[in-house]
Amino acid sequence: MGKQYLKLQLLTVDQLSAVVELDQRCLGGLWTKDGYQREIESPNSDLIIWKREGKTGDQEPKKEEFQLPQIELTDVESSSDQLIGIGCLWAILEEAHITILAIDPEYQGKGLGQALLFQLLVSAWKRKLERATLEVKVSNQPAINLYKKFGFKEAGCRKGYYQDTGEDALILWRGDLHHPHFPNTLHHWYQEICLKLN
Ligand SMILES: CC(C)(COP(=O)(O)OP(=O)(O)OC[C@H]1O[C@@H](n2cnc3c(N)ncnc32)[C@H](O)[C@@H]1OP(=O)(O)O)[C@@H](O)C(=O)NCCC(=O)NCCS
Repeated sequence: MGKQYLKLQLLTVDQLSAVVELDQRCLGGLWTKDGYQREIESPNSDLIIWKREGKTGDQEPKKEEFQLPQIELTDVESSSDQLIGIGCLWAILEEAHITILAIDPEYQGKGLGQALLFQLLVSAWKRKLERATLEVKVSNQPAINLYKKFGFKEAGCRKGYYQDTGEDALILWRGDLHHPHFPNTLHHWYQEICLKLN
């Protein structure tokens, strides 16, 4: 069996069915195919995926600033192409609203979630946005830990925000994305993330 790789890419229209399947596996069916299609078409949305695939022999795309490397998988059991992670932000005025962040349960705990959050923050920085925000269930400690690791701070609570459980949402904010020192912070995270992915 050939080698398999994990790569970060922007979602494309040919992956709409796969992304809905991933959404159902990870998020219980948050958005529909039409919803994802609108995200792809929107100039204010960045929708990034982790994709698993066999090496196609394509040239590596031009190296962009803070572009993370593809990862070679060592425990190859399946040769099928598959989406295993998704992250989305909406640029609204000077804010990045992180609307989705999820990793397939089989691939959690390997540094892929933080790599995806990092890529979203890089996107926000490239768009010259000033801060990032999101809501998270108060009981979702893995996600809260992840966001705090990247400098998000609690700014409030929305009572009964989640319709499925009636649970409260924590509102988190991460400021200073336009600060002159933020590229240094990105560089520091980049090195840590690459180490973890290796
Ligand atoms: C939250 C989520 C995206 C994290 O992705 P992941 O790939 O498993 O996380 P990583 O391996 O990149 O871990 C990064 C950091 O997250 C935190 N974290 C991740 N899993 C954790 C766990 N089980 N317990 C506590 N903290 C955890 C840690 O701070 C970790 O950093 P460390 O390794 O230096 O301790 C993933 O658990 C997920 O998809 N959950 C379901 C969907 C969801 O809840 N999304 C968030 C909605 S707001």
